Amino acid sequence: MDFSLTEEHIMIRDAARDFARTELLPGVIERDTHQRFPKEQVKKMGELGFLGMMADPKYGGGGMDTISYVLVMEELSKIDASASVIVSVNNSLVCWGLDTYANEAQKEKYLTKLTSGESIGAFCLSEPEAGSDATSQQTTAIDKGDHYILNGTKNWITSGSSADFFLVIAQTHKEKKHHGINAFIVEKTWEGFEIGTKEDKLGIRGSDTHSLIFNDVKVPKENRIGEDGFGFKFAMKTLSGGRIGIAAQALGIASGAYELARDYSKVRKAFGTEICNHQAIAFKLADMHTNITAARHLVMKSAWDKDQGNSYDMSSAMAKLFASQVAMDTTVEAIQVHGGNGYVKEYHVERLMRDAKITQIYEGTSEIQKIVISRGLLAD
Ligand code: CAA
Repeated sequence: MDFSLTEEHIMIRDAARDFARTELLPGVIERDTHQRFPKEQVKKMGELGFLGMMADPKYGGGGMDTISYVLVMEELSKIDASASVIVSVNNSLVCWGLDTYANEAQKEKYLTKLTSGESIGAFCLSEPEAGSDATSQQTTAIDKGDHYILNGTKNWITSGSSADFFLVIAQTHKEKKHHGINAFIVEKTWEGFEIGTKEDKLGIRGSDTHSLIFNDVKVPKENRIGEDGFGFKFAMKTLSGGRIGIAAQALGIASGAYELARDYSKVRKAFGTEICNHQAIAFKLADMHTNITAARHLVMKSAWDKDQGNSYDMSSAMAKLFASQVAMDTTVEAIQVHGGNGYVKEYHVERLMRDAKITQIYEGTSEIQKIVISRGLLAD
């Protein structure tokens, strides 16, 4: 078994590490405080090819593997999880969904703009009454011949006000339940499309999370993705890959907090020596590093499964479940290592703890991951 990274993997990881330190770190506290979207940084990430990493080069994508993607996600998330969730949604949910399931015309029109970062994408599944229970879609898309009429509200949409194109899941044939659901590409400028409330969040405050309202939005039939009724499968398949990205985000948050705690413990003195020389601190570092290494193995295994063409529903759920718990545990302990300094913004660990929590909630709560894992186990 070979655990080593290729030269290309190391190059892309180092490029992301360098970008995170030079471009994301300087304004990260301010963006978090004022809930400011990292507009300039997203533009630069588009130029670096971080927004469409795995997509087909024919449509401007990087044609890279999932291992490269998780390496980039980890490095960005060490510093700025608000920026990395934008990258994750654009790559795993929007670009991958289109690259895999959209037709040629849709790819030409939308994917090329999304891979370059000229446009940003959002994925719209959650609703006020359909979060974990994703089959209960209340948003409707009524078939009117050459177009659909879309009505409803979506909640918790990452990049809600910054995105240009939206993948919207809606119910067309209520009597068919989830087999009647469709997925559509919707443009921001279309009549009847309204950006709703911006959420004032605990963490990932630099990313803009909004509700979206669709009021008789006319969606051309050519903007439906796949066959009639494919929308729920589209959402589930896309989310399985998305969970690898969020698992990598959680891993990055944990690694970032660990590195800060380790470095701080080497310079902070108490009782006549650097605090890393006290076992109370050294053992915390040992636990953090062990857990992070275990999480990394799960994340990499899941990315590898996807690259090999293996099923990755279970491995991505396990990676997300475990890495998000490690992110919570590690960030809390990193604050403890910092003592009082850990509780103030300039030391970064309090932000990482706030950011960690969402990794246990979005793209399926930890409880949803356990449903996916246990069903997978029992289906064998
Ligand atoms: N791939 C393909 N098909 C799948 C699938 C997968 N991974 N998972 C389920 N399906 C199919 C099933 O095969 C079934 O199809 P058939 O009826 O044809 O056999 C159908 O979908 C329904 O499946 P279930 O009966 O298992 O559905 P369920 O209602 O019991 O629950 C669930 C499934 C796993 C709980 C699902 O609802 C789920 O994942 N919920 C969480 C939703 C979620 O992650 N939301 C996140 C919002 S997006 C987000 O956060 C993005 C962001 O901005 C950061």
